[in-house]
Amino acid sequence: MTPAGEPLPPTIEWRRGRLRLIDQRELPERLTFVVCSTVEDLCEAISTLAVRGAPALGAAGAYGVAMAALGAPAVRGAARVRAAARRIVATRPTAVNLAWGVERALAALAAGGASAALEEAHRIAAHDVAANRALGAHGAALVPDRARVLTHCNAGSLAAVGYGTALGVIRAAAEAGKAPRVWVDETRPLLQGARITAWELDRLGIEATLIPDVAAGSLMAAGEVDLVVVGADRIAVNGDVANKIGTYALAVLARHHGIPFYVAAPVSTIDVSTRDGGAIAIEERDGAEVTSLRGVRIAPRGFRAFNPAFDVTPARFVTALVTEAGVVRPPYRRAIARLAGSAVRRVAES
Ligand code: MRU
Repeated sequence: MTPAGEPLPPTIEWRRGRLRLIDQRELPERLTFVVCSTVEDLCEAISTLAVRGAPALGAAGAYGVAMAALGAPAVRGAARVRAAARRIVATRPTAVNLAWGVERALAALAAGGASAALEEAHRIAAHDVAANRALGAHGAALVPDRARVLTHCNAGSLAAVGYGTALGVIRAAAEAGKAPRVWVDETRPLLQGARITAWELDRLGIEATLIPDVAAGSLMAAGEVDLVVVGADRIAVNGDVANKIGTYALAVLARHHGIPFYVAAPVSTIDVSTRDGGAIAIEERDGAEVTSLRGVRIAPRGFRAFNPAFDVTPARFVTALVTEAGVVRPPYRRAIARLAGSAVRRVAES
């Protein structure tokens, strides 16, 4: 249920042994839900982007493990759950939160059984919303009054369990009375900006204008952008950031025009096992997503297309990382190690 005064329903909700997800494939035309009863249902929902966005995938992955564990017989169940966990992680290789959520639920399962795995998934979901509110508050301090903010893809409530990361910063700035105005990149090929970010901002009553991705440069040149804020799918320990394809180009443009480029993400998006962006696996999706637009073919029949879902922005283009533990500026390596360490302690204590 949507809490009173909350314009956006929870992206992910555990209901009577099943996982209910907002079906993001249907937005903005319809607000409908997809209900997953099995790991196969969940893998399908993740692969087809019914649920998407790094923090949302973290919670979904943990619930997937809980679902597998609750349905597995006690004898020989562990191997089946591990196989299910591998299937879930393989659906989307770049967003590190997915593997992170799955691993946390597996650890809880090993320590306390299926109900502990479910408790862990609930904890991840609750922590996500709290973390996003905290990072939103930190990020809002970076947003000047009436700022014109450009964002890419969807790093909002729908990319998380609630509140959002990059959109969390914008939302917190709006809640602080700063009246930000948002340039929304449409985000080809799957239009997460046009379909989902626009839907969220509309519901939140935040002033926003949709632009083709290719308009960002000329808007910056015309002095129409005060800052850029995006989310992240994985942050390497040197501060390199993987995010939706097109983010790197925005970061280079922002640097050229002297515009701050912020990345908002929970600490769980930092991957302590990834040294730098070169080590991040970039998901490549079906070329049909490029040769078609919402099911309508726009390229000649049979034409080849390349469809990398993410790119890597080198740390030197990132003005600051906005996390629930505070704003981190370069040099990133030591600050990130500190953040990751304290997050591990906080999770262990929660
Ligand atoms: O392919 P998607 O829609 O899952 O890509 C999502 C993004 O790139 C988001 O910016 C990222 O996951 C951060 S979400 C808070």
